[in-house]
Amino acid sequence: MTNFDKPPVLLTEAQICHRVKLLGREITHHAHEQEYKDLLVIGILEGAFIFMGDLVREINYPLSVDFVIVESYQGKMSSGGVLWGYRPQSDLEDRDVLLVEDIVETGRTLHDVCAYLRTFSPRSLEVCTLLHKRISSSILRPIRWVGFDIADKFVVGYGLDLDGQHRHLPYIGWVK
Ligand code: IMP
Ligand code: MG
Repeated sequence: MTNFDKPPVLLTEAQICHRVKLLGREITHHAHEQEYKDLLVIGILEGAFIFMGDLVREINYPLSVDFVIVESYQGKMSSGGVLWGYRPQSDLEDRDVLLVEDIVETGRTLHDVCAYLRTFSPRSLEVCTLLHKRISSSILRPIRWVGFDIADKFVVGYGLDLDGQHRHLPYIGWVK
């Protein structure tokens, strides 16, 4: 078996696990408070697949799941636009939708996905992102739930990749 160079740790497994539990609790509380009718949690693939799996298990409220696939990065460079792969198949009309993202940088991905989802007239649309790089003042809408604010570093692990690698790391690391 070969070993590989593991990226240095930015957020440990324990830190992530603790924060995800709190986010789940806050979302559960909000769902009760707002009397969510028909909660649909939509994950943005592929980056959010691990976070989404952990988060939904911490939400103590009836829900169903769906996904979108969008691509915005090539290597460490933003492609400048959002390329669509898969669009959700669920009926969104009059439903409470929670969009789950791995990381928000410029906010462009979120903006495009939210604009698309809104055309189906959900009852509400909120966003939960695990990570937020506070580098951009041009974020077009506030994000209700943020796991961690991080510095402007390229991060991998816990679902996030660099050219398809490192998604399976159980922690969040950073690459130079
Ligand atoms: P935005 O559209 O500029 O907000 O970029 C968000 C998207 O870019 C995320 O969905 C990620 O897929 C990707 N991304 C941005 N920063 C990173 C990073 O540091 N590591 C891995 N992916 C990133
Ligand atoms: Mg992503």
